[in-house]
Amino acid sequence: MSVLPITVYGDRILREKTKPVEKVNDEVIENIRDMFETMRNAQNGIGLAANQVGLDKSIFVIDLSIIEEYEKIKPVVMINPEIISESDELINMEEGCLSLPNMRADVIRPESIRVRYLDTDENIQEIDVDDFYARVILHEYDHLIGKMIPDRVVSEIKKKLQKDLLRIMKREIEVPYPITER
Ligand code: NI
Repeated sequence: MSVLPITVYGDRILREKTKPVEKVNDEVIENIRDMFETMRNAQNGIGLAANQVGLDKSIFVIDLSIIEEYEKIKPVVMINPEIISESDELINMEEGCLSLPNMRADVIRPESIRVRYLDTDENIQEIDVDDFYARVILHEYDHLIGKMIPDRVVSEIKKKLQKDLLRIMKREIEVPYPITER
């Protein structure tokens, strides 16, 4: 297992749609282990998508157990996830992202969703989730389609983020975990 450098805003792979995983082979299992290790090494990491460690694969990992209300939720791996349905009800929540160090922004997203994915045994799973859990899945799913927080905020907030985004791209930031070089 290894801690991999995390890609940050401006890295091209974060803007590209990831490829579906065809077979959950040893390499994919190793990738998933590295993703968990990288996420846990980063402060407060609760979700990480494959392209955040430079892998062009449709996979994300989530571990909410550091959040008080969710400590009993087991870590989950979602391979080739699809959002099957979204509630009409929307909620606003502040989000952060390991690829956007030191940045937080309010994002409006559906309150609940149904998601279908492949687990590591290649079984199709379908679950209904809401609130914070749904939020994290939608955020990670966005990574797999090349979207990030700045694409999901209202234009007024996006304007305010510009300076900080530039700083991230230029690596003019202190980050407590390894990130890619410019
Ligand atoms: Ni993120």
